[in-house]
Parts: sequence; C-alpha cells; structure tokens
Amino acid sequence: MADGKATNGKTLVVFFSRTGKVRRVAEAIADELGADVEEIVDTRDRRGPFGLLSAARDAVLRRAARIEEPAHDPADYDLVVIGTPVWAWSVSAPVRAYLQRERERLPEVAFFAVARGQGPARAVRVMGVLAGKEPRAGLPIRRIYGVRRSTLERARRFARGLIPPQQ
Ligand SMILES: Cc1cc2nc3c(=O)[nH]c(=O)nc-3n(C[C@H](O)[C@H](O)[C@H](O)COP(=O)(O)O)c2cc1C
Repeated sequence: MADGKATNGKTLVVFFSRTGKVRRVAEAIADELGADVEEIVDTRDRRGPFGLLSAARDAVLRRAARIEEPAHDPADYDLVVIGTPVWAWSVSAPVRAYLQRERERLPEVAFFAVARGQGPARAVRVMGVLAGKEPRAGLPIRRIYGVRRSTLERARRFARGLIPPQQ
C-alpha cells in the first residue's frame, strides 16, 4: 500500500462490513490518506438469515464477536481510523471486539459509523468510550438510499480533515 506521506505519518484504516457499505466508505478514506487497510474478520459467518439473526442477537445484547487476529499492529501507526456499521443504535459486535482487544495499543483515532438511518452519532460516541479516548474526528453517516457519490465525497472530505496542517 501507499506510504501514508499525505498524513504526515502512518495511517491505518480498520473496518468491519457485513454487506459492503462500510467497506466502500473505508476504501474511499484509505485512498484519500494513502493508508494501510485492516478488515476485521468475524469468525462467525454473518451472511444469510441465520447470520443476520446472530448479528441482531449480539447487537441487542451488546456482545463482542470473536474475531481473527488482526494483521496489523495499530501501535505501528500515528493514526487509526475505525469504521463500523451501526447495529442496534450502537457499534457492531466485531468492531466492539476490535476496540476491546486493541484499546491499549491504539494511537490517535478517528471513527466513522454507517447506518441505514438511526444511530450513527451514538455509535461514534460508543466507539470513543470503548477505545477509552476522544477521537481526532468522528463521521456519522446515514445512507438511507445506499452509499451515494455524495456520501463518498463526504468521507473523502472527512479524511482530508484528519491531515494536520503543514508547518
Ligand atoms: C444486526 C443489525 C442491526 C442494525 N441496526 C441498525 C440501527 O440501529 N440503525 C440503522 O440505521 N441501521 C441498522 N442496521 C443497518 C446497518 O447499519 C446498515 O445497513 C449499514 O449500512 C450496514 O453496513 P455494511 O454493509 O458495511 O454491513 C442494522 C443492521 C444489522 C445487521
């Protein structure tokens, strides 16, 4: 991947996506920042009706998923941008697991959350609580009509806003 020079340091974009919406936003942000990318891998298959049911159960019970060992060490980066789909007005179970697991290793953070309609701002706040730190910035996204070009442009603007001003 790129060397992250545009951010004045190394950036990692971490995300989980069940149906591809968060993935598209994460890829736009990573592209804008020249960042490395880590996709959180849930050991439970969340596809299909049974996967959806298990996701709903974990979401309502605020349970963390069992996730695979991440490929990147967040402590190697200056900034980690973390994205989640909104599950039951909160963070998804796989991203909950990632934040709990990596919280001590996280450098500066920024968060984004993608909802069909309700709860993305709340999910961003919950991410801060789970990470134990204030994010450099947060981006709540409502994508009622799908991920539109305007949504991706907003994500790119958000990414550019994470770059510290040059001296
Ligand atoms: C278990 C579960 C709970 C959800 N809860 C909410 C919710 O509270 N509010 C909302 O607007 N969308 C909710 N959604 C919809 C997702 O947040 C939305 O479709 C999101 O864009 C999915 O991103 P993804 O395609 O990256 O998985 C939920 C989806 C699932 C699977």
